[in-house]
Amino acid sequence: MAGSLRGLSVFALVVGASAFAPPAPARLARGVGHHRTSAIMAFDKAARPADACVLAPAKVNLFLRILRRREDGYHELASLFQALELGDTLRVWKLADDVPSTMDLVWDDGADADAKRPDVPTDASNLVLRAFELFAKRTRSPMRVHVELTKRIPVQAGMGGGSADAAAALFAANRLAGYPASMRELREWGAELGSDISFFFSTGTAYCTGRGEKIESLPPLAPGREITVLKPVEGLSTAVVYRTLDLASLSPLDPDRLLAAMRASPAGLLDPANFVNDLEPPALAAVPRLAQIQSALRAKGWRVVMMSGSGTSIFCLGPPEGAPPLSGWSAELGAACFPTRFASRAEEDERVWYGE
Ligand code: C5P
Repeated sequence: MAGSLRGLSVFALVVGASAFAPPAPARLARGVGHHRTSAIMAFDKAARPADACVLAPAKVNLFLRILRRREDGYHELASLFQALELGDTLRVWKLADDVPSTMDLVWDDGADADAKRPDVPTDASNLVLRAFELFAKRTRSPMRVHVELTKRIPVQAGMGGGSADAAAALFAANRLAGYPASMRELREWGAELGSDISFFFSTGTAYCTGRGEKIESLPPLAPGREITVLKPVEGLSTAVVYRTLDLASLSPLDPDRLLAAMRASPAGLLDPANFVNDLEPPALAAVPRLAQIQSALRAKGWRVVMMSGSGTSIFCLGPPEGAPPLSGWSAELGAACFPTRFASRAEEDERVWYGE
């Protein structure tokens, strides 16, 4: 996974919840960049290595069918989720039980240091700290931590970034506690925090139903398959996209058939007819530029061009022969480019995580 952003200009910036010391150049573990260190820290990060370091892979929805609106306001869906090598990293230090948990954010998304980024909270409302809190509650044992979250997954992109971070946090908490919880328990606790979190306890390819929390792990579809994701500068909130969804114009296609077609042969995974996302129309209506970007990509010869989740990221499969890499001209489309691959996890074992 370390090579997933190879080729991007990597620039990282630490944005903590507390006051900062003046910027001091430093080297990140895996790249070049600037590093700012919090002036007020619960402990000195440099003094000891992290107690756990886990990856949080992004996901795309290879298809996403919305079946109906439920009485609780959520939507019943049927979707084929696929994990990617592109991912965030959580470094976790255990703290004494009597100090509050804290976190720092490091942007490693290839953008300039002063680029405008969505506001990601680093206080107790962040899903990562909420996941550690929930783990402590469910296992009835204190778990105070400092987390350094390195963000590479685009935000407001429909790539499950926040959910992946929360899943990775639950996994890290379990590891730090000596694995008291089963994978099934972690998955159930994850579902309490968000609909997409359960998926990350699958093996990386899963058919998800319910509000997204019911998962059926599948054998890897196309291990290591190259996929290029574009993230337009605009972002979208999942809740807003669902709110503007027109239930009268959902796709009529049977999700079980889509799944069978995608699993049947490698050709099924490159047939645009199988790639359906019911959240695409409301997202395209909210950000009309997304449709223009998609048209430009199709005109260049990409076989599959589709939005992931509630957007705004667009993934592309089946590159045109001999075409220059998308990263060379995605800036012309007002989008960042993330070339990556399908990822999978060996098994649903509480001691094994992505990239291990
Ligand atoms: O569960 P999560 O907090 O990730 O969902 C974010 C929002 O997306 C929900 O508040 C809901 O409005 C919408 N949603 C939905 N149906 C789903 C999943 C999410 O309506 N299956």
